[in-house]
Amino acid sequence: MFIKAPTLAAYTLLPLPILSILIYKISKIIHKRSTIVQQYLSTLSTFTQEVFSGVSVIKAYTLEPQTNAELKVLANDGKDKSMSLARVNAWFFPLMILLIGISNILVIYIGGMQYLRGYIGVGLIAEFILYVNMLTWPVAIVGWLTSIVQTAEASQKRINEFLNQQSELKNGSVELMDVEGKIEFKNVSFTYEDTEINALKNLSFTINPGETTAILGKTGSGKSTILDLVARLYDVSSGEIMIDRKPIRDYEINSLRKAIGAVPQDAFLFSDSIKNNIKFGKEEATDEEIILKAKEAVVHENIMGFSKNYDTVLGERGITLSGGQKQRVSIARALLKNPKIYLFDDCLSAVDTETEEEILNNLKKASKEKTTLIVSHRVSSAKNADKILVLEDGELIQEGTHEELNTVEGYYKELYKNQLSDKEN
Ligand SMILES: Nc1ncnc2c1ncn2[C@@H]1O[C@H](COP(=O)(O)OP(=O)(O)O)[C@@H](O)[C@H]1O
Ligand SMILES: [Mg+2]
Repeated sequence: MFIKAPTLAAYTLLPLPILSILIYKISKIIHKRSTIVQQYLSTLSTFTQEVFSGVSVIKAYTLEPQTNAELKVLANDGKDKSMSLARVNAWFFPLMILLIGISNILVIYIGGMQYLRGYIGVGLIAEFILYVNMLTWPVAIVGWLTSIVQTAEASQKRINEFLNQQSELKNGSVELMDVEGKIEFKNVSFTYEDTEINALKNLSFTINPGETTAILGKTGSGKSTILDLVARLYDVSSGEIMIDRKPIRDYEINSLRKAIGAVPQDAFLFSDSIKNNIKFGKEEATDEEIILKAKEAVVHENIMGFSKNYDTVLGERGITLSGGQKQRVSIARALLKNPKIYLFDDCLSAVDTETEEEILNNLKKASKEKTTLIVSHRVSSAKNADKILVLEDGELIQEGTHEELNTVEGYYKELYKNQLSDKEN
């Protein structure tokens, strides 16, 4: 264009940089507003998901009108946000067409003048109109891309924050092999960083290999925290935890966790078959092994009661297990893993006392050579343990066997008396 008619080219190309800049500005606003709409959609789906999973509670408390009203507020808010996005979006194409139009007018007007003065021919004007239209898209895209690159940069920064996050736990180098199972707590204190709750205070005790230790105490006394620290989900704030006479910080974390079979307080099962949920602890397990472990966890009969037995699918796409069934599947999973150290966190709370006793008997046989920590609310789970620890507000207030603790006044004796009389009633 510049070779054929420099002046005309300069005039007709004048609107194009302006187009590029305007498109850039508009794209920026579009991205900003679409981020807001995205965030809104995430809020909306969280709300909907919560309402659906809590539908029985909402119905039981007749909260439907209130929930509806909340949804209405949320939906209106969403409408406003989407409209504000649509409004800038609507500018995009008209603005482009306007600027192309101006270019075209300039070609015809200035080209026409030059033609009248005899500088150029008519064919050149037609040629220029074609060129200008061919140029518009690339120029618009320059502005559009610049804004995308900027947004991408901002997103990448957020992603990098995650990617560069270092785990606070420093991995040790010693492989934990041929585990004996001796666990020692030496003046262990632990504070949850985010809440600054002092969950454990100067705790010391020793669990010998193969022993079963029960931990009792009120809710919030720090029982689960002890188990989390043994599995090294957190590092102690002060003091030291030793396994087989070495600090657990020195062990390679995966080898440490392989030595541990943990059943958490809130048994978590995946939306998968019962068989796969149990096999989670040991991929290569045979069906016989799975059935054996389910029998030990006294859940085999329940599973055979379902039409598809071990292939019954759990969760949203399948059946819902009762709290006690979930706990027992979770126990079967840990038993199948066959680790050296067992951590049971109040995992018999939803099981009736007779089944509890049956499971405890099986555990006793299965965990003869294993170090076992059982957290419980019930004296029945603790009675036969080699050692009982009683916690209160993160402090160890009693330690001993059932016989020892039952002869001194204190939390344990009180609890035993109460639960004994409950049973008699
Ligand atoms: N992930 C956590 N973040 C912050 N505080 C926690 C966390 N887990 C437990 N706590 C607090 O630590 C204390 C001990 O909790 P926990 O060990 O779960 O007690 P227990 O199992 O005996 O009921 C409680 O006061 C609890 O609120
Ligand atoms: Mg707990």
